[in-house]
Amino acid sequence: MELKFFDTISELDQYAAQLFATTLANKPHAALGLATGSTPVGIYGKIIEMYQRGEISFRDATTFNLDEYVGLPPEHDQSYAYYMKQHLFAHIDLPGKQAHLPKGTAPDLAAECKEYDRMLEEQPVDIQLLGLGHNGHIGFNEPNGELQGGTHIVELKEETREANARFFGSLDEVPKQAVTMGVGSILKARTVLLVVKGADKAEIVKRALTGPITTECPASLLQTHANVIVLLDKEAGRLL
Ligand code: F6R
Repeated sequence: MELKFFDTISELDQYAAQLFATTLANKPHAALGLATGSTPVGIYGKIIEMYQRGEISFRDATTFNLDEYVGLPPEHDQSYAYYMKQHLFAHIDLPGKQAHLPKGTAPDLAAECKEYDRMLEEQPVDIQLLGLGHNGHIGFNEPNGELQGGTHIVELKEETREANARFFGSLDEVPKQAVTMGVGSILKARTVLLVVKGADKAEIVKRALTGPITTECPASLLQTHANVIVLLDKEAGRLL
């Protein structure tokens, strides 16, 4: 596991964007695993700047997002499909059919999960971007007595709904379920890029990276992966 500490968020975001650029320069057909939430917004901003300068192209790339809320159509302004369009896809040359997110409104969600896993098998992720939840979740894999390997439907923890309520009008509007890649799928990525920002994540990132490997802290399973890069700002990294 490689840990990198940054004095500024801007330097961290630029470093992460450069990792994606390098991945695509070495392998234009790479599969990129993407995340949503606050953490990647600045990284996507830097990627767009690089694209505008002609330093990166997504023409031949494929992307797989980690997760999506159940019941929110792509047009809903809090769906992750909408987020991706707003923060990245509308600004780069990635062909729409090469961008994948689980469909939270699929009539048969179990079949949707299977199909997502089939696509991931067919095109394994080269680099998977991850944020970190305050309870140690990655994707929407919440702390639990047991975890599922593949893509599945998950009941969101109250603390996760509360943390995400800031994006919705009220807590009631936050969906209770999501579709997420499983920890097994995440661990299959060739490289995992975990990005952690802010003082409020210092405790959990320490627990995830140096504590016991346990399903009660899903991010701790990253300790078993051979190629994890962790980017931290000063505040998030202060206990490491
Ligand atoms: C988002 C995702 C989540 C977030 C995590 C941190 O696709 O899978 O695991 O990465 O909840 O969220 P932020 O970045 O908003 O603190």
